[in-house]
Amino acid sequence: MRFAGRQVLSIADFTRDEIVHVLTVASQVEQRGRGALFSGKLMATLFFEPSTRTRLSFEAAMLHQGGQVMGFSDAASTSTKKGESLADTIRMVEQYVDVIVMRHPRDGAARLAAEVSRVPVINGGDGANQHPSQTFLDLYTIAKLFPALLTGDRQLTVAFAGDLKYGRTVHSLVSALCHFKVKILLTAPAGLELPQQYLDECAAAGLPVEIASGLPEAIAASDVLYMTRLQEERFPDPVEFDHIKASYRVNAAMLRSAKPELRILHPLPRINEIATDVDFTPHAHYFPQAGNGIPVRQALVGLVLGVL
Ligand code: CP
Repeated sequence: MRFAGRQVLSIADFTRDEIVHVLTVASQVEQRGRGALFSGKLMATLFFEPSTRTRLSFEAAMLHQGGQVMGFSDAASTSTKKGESLADTIRMVEQYVDVIVMRHPRDGAARLAAEVSRVPVINGGDGANQHPSQTFLDLYTIAKLFPALLTGDRQLTVAFAGDLKYGRTVHSLVSALCHFKVKILLTAPAGLELPQQYLDECAAAGLPVEIASGLPEAIAASDVLYMTRLQEERFPDPVEFDHIKASYRVNAAMLRSAKPELRILHPLPRINEIATDVDFTPHAHYFPQAGNGIPVRQALVGLVLGVL
């Protein structure tokens, strides 16, 4: 298994064994705590789109291990504003650093960057396409909660709710779950259903996929409920958006029908889809999930830098 120098562009580029190796290394790094793994190493964080967790947790992952970080979180302050191409920007940055983390609004931008970069590029999210480091941390979180994900002792039911059409974290996670023994439940507003290509991937992997009648069924039937944000800009009619928003909102009262072990995940940011009263139930797990970003991103960075 070779990771040094590798590009992290899509979860589809990783085999099951490689995914499990990343999760194992993340667990070792988490147990070891802070150190100097990345001493003398420099990361560039190039964020052409807003981010809180991805950028800051990559930066914290680096700084907690003695590495250094440079970059930008507002492309308007860079020469992109003057018309410099993405390829030329990468051709410059790759000469300055050891690893690049990039988020970009265009599908495929990370792959383009990787084609012109000598150093590893980690995709921090490209358009509606992929967000692989989020997927590794989602899998790490599920495996910590439910070791059966890796042992295959029983079939977990993972439900996805919300915008399944444009949610890149959903696309990446569904693809990754095809390597494991899970059943998938889906519930999405009309027009925002999971694209056919991901249903085809599940079918090819032999994963059972069912459409839930709505959030109540998904809550009652699942071990993991993966909520996503509904994006208002996708709805031409604000009245329709308000109606759908109300039907894709979980609150504490709705969780009375849940299994005791149900855990709710969300890549965050949440807007309206999880009421704050859920935060005080044992089912809420989205903040620890975000915390898992540190060891998982340390594992990815360490592996591609060849220091783990
Ligand atoms: N989960 C996630 O990608 O969050 P950010 O957009 O804040 O990075």
